[in-house]
Amino acid sequence: MKVTLSVIKADIGSLAGHIRPSRALMEAVQEHIDGEKGKLILDYYISSTGDDVAILLTHQAGTGNPAVHKLAWDAFLSGTKTAKAQGLYGAGQDLLSDAFSGNVKGMGPAVAEMEFEEREAEPFVLFAADKTDPGAYNLPLYLSFADPMHCSGLILSPKMSKGFKFVIMDVEYTEADRVIELNSPEELYDIAALLRDNERFVVAGIYSRETGEQAVAASTTRLHNIAGKYTGKDDPIMLVRVQGVFPATGEILSPYSIGHYVAGFMRGSHTGPLMPVKIGCGTSFFDGPPIVTATGFCVRGGKLTEPVDCFDHPYWDYIREKVARKSTEIREQGFSGAAMLPYSELEYGGIVEKMKYLDRKFSC
Ligand code: F6R
Ligand code: MG
Ligand code: MG
Repeated sequence: MKVTLSVIKADIGSLAGHIRPSRALMEAVQEHIDGEKGKLILDYYISSTGDDVAILLTHQAGTGNPAVHKLAWDAFLSGTKTAKAQGLYGAGQDLLSDAFSGNVKGMGPAVAEMEFEEREAEPFVLFAADKTDPGAYNLPLYLSFADPMHCSGLILSPKMSKGFKFVIMDVEYTEADRVIELNSPEELYDIAALLRDNERFVVAGIYSRETGEQAVAASTTRLHNIAGKYTGKDDPIMLVRVQGVFPATGEILSPYSIGHYVAGFMRGSHTGPLMPVKIGCGTSFFDGPPIVTATGFCVRGGKLTEPVDCFDHPYWDYIREKVARKSTEIREQGFSGAAMLPYSELEYGGIVEKMKYLDRKFSC
């Protein structure tokens, strides 16, 4: 059966600053979605990562379907109503437009969608990250799909020996989706040359070269580039199909043991290591550190199994300690150099005014 997975996420308000949504907010979103189960949608799962709410929907309406997007948008509006009633911080923060225009892309929420023919067994993982931006997945995806140091299947499985096709988007170009397709392993260095720049080039999708099937769909919106002013970081989501012709779940999770440095953290304007955390985890230290959750499922006939929390395991406690240590170390240098993002990436416009004012005060 052909099924579509759509995950749409937004920050519509949270407790005690930008920490995590309230229970009542989550219930309001869920109530709205639940009304469509068995009608427009086959199944759903709602979770939070930091201050963001992710709505995972299964259906047969294909990607970019206006009715599906409207359902998520209206659920966020309903959650926003509760957020306002509770006096939550940043109520409706990511709903940048007053009127829904057919697709939530560019309106604030992040979207990742994939339509495919279900395999006999269809395992997949939903990733959601907070206090960072879409480039945060560049390195883990490169390592999972193109580097045998993390993906032993590239050496051991004949189903993967042809490699994968990367679709990479230039997110600085805002007129349209400007993408390039590159094949690993032949074009590995070209892929690396682009993916080193997490703020400009972002993996949008990855495909098996054995079967042509899609393995990855990731959100690519950079509202910073669209709106040209601070709108919060674009806390990205991603769907990854695993096993068989794709890397195993553990090969997909392996690069998150690095705790690599990403853009985000406090005021979306710093550098911090990405910490793999449990579903529903909030943020804390310096509005961070940047976090990522991984929720695993199988789907059959569009019906989801119960979720499994991929980072809820003693191994990841050890990694969380390491990442906490890395967070403390980079925070020790405060605003200086690599600890804070370059001028062009600062998410708060106030610095522009400050620099103009200071520029006038210089003399020769
Ligand atoms: C980063 C984030 C927070 C806020 C910070 C200030 O993505 O959400 O770090 O930037 O808490 O929040 P405001 O500007 O809303 O007072
Ligand atoms: Mg927020
Ligand atoms: Mg957020």
